[in-house]
Amino acid sequence: MPQAFKDLFSSLPSEEDWITASFRLYQGFWLSSRLFKGILTCQNHFQAHPSDILLVTSPKSGTTWLKAILFALLNRAKYSANSQRRHPLLTQNSHDLVPFLELNLYLGQENPDLTAIASPRLFATHMPYSLLPQSVRDSNCKLVYLCRNPKDTFVSMWHFANRMRPEEKGQIPIQEGLNKFCRGVSVCGPYWDHVLGYHKASLDMPEKVLFMMYEQMKVDPHVHVRRLADFLGCPFSKEELRDGTVEGILKMCSFDNMSALEVNKCGKLWTGAETKWFFRRGEVGDWVNYMSSEMGERIDGVMEEKLHGSGLKL
Ligand code: A3P
Repeated sequence: MPQAFKDLFSSLPSEEDWITASFRLYQGFWLSSRLFKGILTCQNHFQAHPSDILLVTSPKSGTTWLKAILFALLNRAKYSANSQRRHPLLTQNSHDLVPFLELNLYLGQENPDLTAIASPRLFATHMPYSLLPQSVRDSNCKLVYLCRNPKDTFVSMWHFANRMRPEEKGQIPIQEGLNKFCRGVSVCGPYWDHVLGYHKASLDMPEKVLFMMYEQMKVDPHVHVRRLADFLGCPFSKEELRDGTVEGILKMCSFDNMSALEVNKCGKLWTGAETKWFFRRGEVGDWVNYMSSEMGERIDGVMEEKLHGSGLKL
């Protein structure tokens, strides 16, 4: 990390993170040193194109799933999900097909080669709205935000952190994770400020920011994938609606199909994380299997207070 970044990072308020290092509070959000470096480099160097599409999530909100759906949706003329044979999603994890700006492209370099990426370029990010590069906010590029209910997000985060923790550290007690989450201390947290930033942007600029919910996608994926295609300016044609293109994409990207693929059972990502860690249960309401109702009420109470007046209920 450049010395100036290091000096700034070490001057910021710190908290122990969920794994082995520390988070620092930068402009209201908790960041690891990797995220901090990637975000600042991206802010300084990324030039958004008006046709770019950015998938934005708070970690563990269903990024892996929506990356796959977006990739399949945007590349449907080239790769048919129905004739599943040649589709890149069958041999590559969606994180390898749709890079994160700050965690892949701008992590170790100021000017990654983006020339090979066909238009519309599809990227992902966990950056809070207020930390997005200015060019993203100024250009006509589109942002798709996926939000997930905080109790399931928290439980998914807790499981994931435990997998990432070195064995000798043992598991992080769920109560300790909950205390951190409820104080806003999580990757790119506070969770509620991350969500609120994009929720407000989606109300102010509905043509630029689409706000989606994991739970709604689970209940009626057909409707929401069509909504996504309309928003991105690539609506499904009548013929595609007749010939099962939507169903093909949804089936290919389903939890059951994706989690059974060899690449998602045995692969590893550049971070060292195993691809199977991104496919745990993929269900709504799984939090009840790990948290008491009092713990659930604690998250509900925090959300009620923090989201008050926003019109958003999670
Ligand atoms: P659980 O831990 O609750 O199972 P992210 O991709 O943002 O890291 O989020 C991971 C969560 O999304 C995990 O939740 C994972 O199981 C779920 N997930 C992954 N692929 C999915 C899919 N195809 N459909 C639904 N949920 C999926």
